[in-house]
Amino acid sequence: MTKYLFETNTNDREWKRLRMIEEAVDAETITLLERAGLDIGGRCLEIGAGAGSIVGWMAARVGSSGLVIAVDKKTTYLQRFQGGSVRVIEGDLKDVSLDHSVDLAHARYMLIHNADDGAPLAKIRSAVKPGGMVILEEPDFTAAAFLQPEGDAAVQRVNGAICKMFTDAGLDPAYGLKLPKKVEGAGFDLVHMESRMHLCAGESPIARVMAESAEVLREEYTKTGLATDEDIDHYVARAYDPRVWSVFYATVSVVAHRG
Ligand SMILES: C[S@@+](CC[C@H](N)C(=O)[O-])C[C@H]1O[C@@H](n2cnc3c(N)ncnc32)[C@H](O)[C@@H]1O
Repeated sequence: MTKYLFETNTNDREWKRLRMIEEAVDAETITLLERAGLDIGGRCLEIGAGAGSIVGWMAARVGSSGLVIAVDKKTTYLQRFQGGSVRVIEGDLKDVSLDHSVDLAHARYMLIHNADDGAPLAKIRSAVKPGGMVILEEPDFTAAAFLQPEGDAAVQRVNGAICKMFTDAGLDPAYGLKLPKKVEGAGFDLVHMESRMHLCAGESPIARVMAESAEVLREEYTKTGLATDEDIDHYVARAYDPRVWSVFYATVSVVAHRG
């Protein structure tokens, strides 16, 4: 089993970081979920649910006659949803038992953290009923190396370190780029694909998430040998400077049907 990169982060800090991710990208996720047409009484699955904003959104959407299953390796931040139409299950997706087939499954920034993505993708397929839908969203960190309006050498060293940290852990920093093909390979029919490069100013939610991740994973970044502490300080300072625009990563979102 792949160790989650943020596994040793303190609870307080990880909660705040996960909430920052939600603030940064929930609006786009919710647009995709709304288009998928989840209704009252629907059954859905949120995988790698993190701090749970999408679990809360799904629960409100399906109502008391529906079902929301929320799975995460760590459910500390999800316990507040347990009960009523929500079932919180702690464990690795590939090991947990899912008794109901669902109309819709969603995962965001979760597959990239799994070196063996075959088992989670197969599990997602088996959890979705025939004709049901999947929405998967994954990042591509290599985009940052190419799309820098005001890039400098230190920032590029940190972007290189982020990618090498993933590679050294047996993970793929360009996972998002391969997502459409992987979803098709797992037996789904693609309905829609979009990619967002997240060009954003310092202090914006995505910039703050990336600054916080850099602080938490500082040692992992420097261990790659590609970036120094000074480079990371510079990267973080820019992420809090509203005058500087950067691309920190891109997100690829795929909507697909289980045929
Ligand atoms: C980067 S966080 C994203 C959280 C949330 N999806 C979001 O975008 O706000 C990744 C989450 O996926 C969970 N995760 C990663 N691999 C998992 C697996 N194989 N089974 C269950 N949860 C997993 C982690 O514990 C973590 O909470």
